[in-house]
Amino acid sequence: MTNERPIHVLGISGSLRDSSYNTALLRAAEELIPAGMTLEIVNLAGIPVFNVDEEIPFPKAVEELRSAIAAADAVLIATPEYNSSISGALKNALDWVSRSPQPPLTGKPVALIGASTGMFGTARAQVQLRQVLTHLGALVLPKPEVMVAKAQEVFDENGRLTSEATRGFLQDLLTKLATWTWQVTH
Ligand SMILES: Cc1cc2nc3c(=O)[nH]c(=O)nc-3n(C[C@H](O)[C@H](O)[C@H](O)COP(=O)(O)O)c2cc1C
Repeated sequence: MTNERPIHVLGISGSLRDSSYNTALLRAAEELIPAGMTLEIVNLAGIPVFNVDEEIPFPKAVEELRSAIAAADAVLIATPEYNSSISGALKNALDWVSRSPQPPLTGKPVALIGASTGMFGTARAQVQLRQVLTHLGALVLPKPEVMVAKAQEVFDENGRLTSEATRGFLQDLLTKLATWTWQVTH
């Protein structure tokens, strides 16, 4: 695989929480990013609640997210699990960007990761997120799946991912996202 420039990945955390495990998981991905890839993490704070009456023109925060997705070669979404589904903040952001005249997730390579304090590590949320993204025409990496259960046991008090096994799974997903991005865009 040859690439003239690095694959630019946009990391989106579905949690607005300061000490979010999902944002921390994206920071771990930033540390582990393979050569030939870059990762930029964006925050969904500031995105208003979706209202069709307010979509023209797009609010500034939504336009910034839309253009960041459009400019990225691939997207990495870290989803929390709320009541067996994705967070309202994440669904809200996806609803907004879906209303763009040229929805930026259509045809975009996307990988999913997630951390929860429960036993199933966002398995249920990821299934639902995959469904929403498929509706939007995103090209979601089929495997591997990174679902971090009992997040409080694998992150330290500074939000560092301490589990070597989980770090390995994450690095493997990033490598496969690079290959997937190349495959689906060439
Ligand atoms: C409203 C709400 C619902 C939740 N539902 C689930 C759930 O269905 N499954 C689960 O594993 N954790 C659930 N949790 C716990 C989250 O996994 C935990 O709060 C986690 O830290 C959220 O991600 P974050 O750290 O990135 O904010 C829920 C938390 C909240 C606040």
